[in-house]
Parts: sequence; C-alpha cells; structure tokens
Amino acid sequence: MIKILEIDDNNNSNVFKHSEEVDGQSVKVKNGDNALTDLIYDYFDKKDQIVVDAGGGNDSTATIELIKDTGVPFTYIVPVGSSMAQLENAKATYDLISDPKNTIFALNGVHDLDNLENEFPFWFGNVELGIESFAQTVKSDALIIKYTPLFELAALDGITINELAQFSHGLDKAQALDILYKESKERTEFKRMKNKWTQSIQSVRYLDEILKQFKKIKTQRNIAVVSSKGGVGKSTIAWHLAKFILENQEQ
Ligand SMILES: Nc1ncnc2c1ncn2[C@@H]1O[C@H](COP(=O)(O)OP(=O)(O)OP(=O)(O)O)[C@@H](O)[C@H]1O
Ligand SMILES: [Mg+2]
Repeated sequence: MIKILEIDDNNNSNVFKHSEEVDGQSVKVKNGDNALTDLIYDYFDKKDQIVVDAGGGNDSTATIELIKDTGVPFTYIVPVGSSMAQLENAKATYDLISDPKNTIFALNGVHDLDNLENEFPFWFGNVELGIESFAQTVKSDALIIKYTPLFELAALDGITINELAQFSHGLDKAQALDILYKESKERTEFKRMKNKWTQSIQSVRYLDEILKQFKKIKTQRNIAVVSSKGGVGKSTIAWHLAKFILENQEQ
C-alpha cells in the first residue's frame, strides 16, 4: 500500500474523492511529525510505502527536516519551472535536503520536447545570453514532466491520471464506442464518455513516457516531493505520479 501525506499549512490537495488508489491525508506542519511517525510504524509493520507532498514557502524547510529525521530511505523529487527564481528555490531546496545521491530534479510543465533548451534556459544555460547552466552546477539530470491538461481533468473527476488511463484499458476505439453507446442513456452522456475515452487513451500514452524515464532511475522505497517554491507542481507529481512510479518499479 502506498500512503500519501501532504504536509502543508495552507493547502489540502486531497481532491481525489472517487479515487480507489490514492490513500491520502493532509496535515499542518505542526502535526506532520505525528502523522509521519504513524506512517513509518505502518511502513515497518506492513511494508507500506510513503509519499510526502511537502508544502511550499516556510513549510518546506520544516518538512524537509521532519522527513530527514524519520531515518527511513526517501528519494526526493524537486520540481522546477523555467524561471530563474524557481531554480534558485530548487537550489535552496537541494541544499536543505543535502542528500545529492537521492535527489532528482523534475522539469515540470514542458511544452515542446524539441525546444526544451529554450524553454528551460536557466536549467540548460545559454551562452549567447550569458546564462550559466544550473544542471552543470548541480551535476544532475532532470526528469521531464510535460504539460498536460489531463492532470486537472482527472482531478475534476476526483481520480488520478493513472485511474483515468485505466478507463480505456485494453479496448480499441470501436469496442469502446460500442460499450459507451450501450452504457450511456442519451446523447450528451455518450459524448461525455467519448471525451473521457480520448482523455484516457492520452493518459496511457503520457504515463508510458513517464515510466520510460523511471526505468532508468532507481528510487528508494519512499518518495518526498519538495520545493520551497509554491505552485511548481509538487502536489501534481506527488498525487498523480509518485504512486504510479513506485508501483511500476522493480524493488
Ligand atoms: N505538468 C503539468 N501539466 C499541467 N498542469 C500542471 C502540471 N504541473 C502542475 N500543473 C498545474 O499547476 C498548478 C500548480 O500545481 P501544484 O498544485 O501541483 O503545485 P504545488 O507545488 O503543489 O503548489 P503549492 O505550493 O501551492 O502546494 C495546478 O493547477 C496543477 O494542476
Ligand atoms: Mg501543493
């Protein structure tokens, strides 16, 4: 079982009301220690795995300390956007974690893979503009997490992108349309289901790409998604992807 814990004073990202795969809770930093200790007890007891979604801002410093204090192995994922400010936060987060071997950066919200270096000039550097490469400074590769509306579409239905992917599982379009036609009671319902099927097919493709990257990386049994910057995609990665990544890894 994979358990997700959000430690954040301002947010509650547990919007997955219809999800059967997300067993998550959201707590404030002052309750983080207690909640983590509970999870770690279960981790030892039943071999659960833990995913932490750490809040931004001041929360993240305290949360990183809490995670380090647990003494159990974590891989840290630090999402970064394209701006210099975001990379400065990523660097500060990286230094706070101070566990380079177990820290992975994720370029989040990538629009065009063929134009990656222009989209993330502060990560890759740009000689003409006199921008140093952050990647070279930290001597690290990064995961690529593309922009997709599917995260928010899935969340709107109260499920993860992985559950959205399962909706179309094993069916080709003709079979799917046939089932959808029989199942839906009227035209608008049929259209809605057809859209969902398309979303689902795209989710399958999206997750395949994510998984290919993780086949090359070996993570610890637990994942913490952290950054001192707000809005960089921590919750998206933690709730939609971390469980999927852990479940599809050879341990
Ligand atoms: N790869 C992506 N593709 C599309 N939308 C994304 C992606 N990553 C994040 N988003 C969207 O960007 C917004 C911010 O992302 P998210 O809530 O995951 O950030 P966060 O780091 O957890 O923020 P906070 O610090 O406020 O907790 C959300 O609306 C989310 O759906
Ligand atoms: Mg969040």
